Amino acid sequence: MGDRHGTSIPISRVAPLPRPPTECFARCADAFGSTLAREEAFPDQEWITRLAVGAASSLDLPLVAEESGRAVGLAWVRIDADDLATATLYQVWVHPEFRWLGIGKSLLASALAWAEGAGAATMVLSVACGPDSALEFYRHAGFVEAGKPGQLRPDSGLMQQPMRRSI
Ligand SMILES: CC(C)(COP(=O)(O)OP(=O)(O)OC[C@H]1O[C@@H](n2cnc3c(N)ncnc32)[C@H](O)[C@@H]1OP(=O)(O)O)[C@@H](O)C(=O)NCCC(=O)NCCS
Repeated sequence: MGDRHGTSIPISRVAPLPRPPTECFARCADAFGSTLAREEAFPDQEWITRLAVGAASSLDLPLVAEESGRAVGLAWVRIDADDLATATLYQVWVHPEFRWLGIGKSLLASALAWAEGAGAATMVLSVACGPDSALEFYRHAGFVEAGKPGQLRPDSGLMQQPMRRSI
């Protein structure tokens, strides 16, 4: 278990990651611009294929924080082949029972270190706005708003805020 000043939970590149826990989407579907129904509809093979492709790609970094063999934190970084200077951060999630322990910060640090090593100069992301927004978490990590919020999904009333930081 981690502590308040830095987690001891190992963070590693995954190959392949098990299917993200359902509660990840049940609680945070809006944070990811997805829906629980859409994510649950994917057969396991779809996840296995997605993650195997990501794990094998030099332009992707799927990350997992593990506690006793259980995924308690996830993140995914991708560098677009058409823009090698920009890394995009997706799907940062920490299990509710493991929040405020430094796991999110460790995932972010691993993501930034990998992106820097891969030659990216900027990291970008979009964060859902609203009461449970992770906006402050990212501000705390040096990200700043980059432009105006846009609609999260065509069928959602929520907005998402683009953010960026130099690496
Ligand atoms: C956002 C999230 C990933 C943070 O993970 P976490 O492991 O709890 O964060 P950490 O414990 O590493 O916190 C790192 C720092 O950010 C701060 N922080 C964390 N969550 C915060 C929040 N919601 N608001 C303000 N500050 C926050 C912490 O106080 C800590 O500060 P410190 O460095 O001074 O100690 C987690 O709350 C989560 O999974 N939320 C739901 C999914 C989500 O919204 N994901 C983002 C989609 S873009």
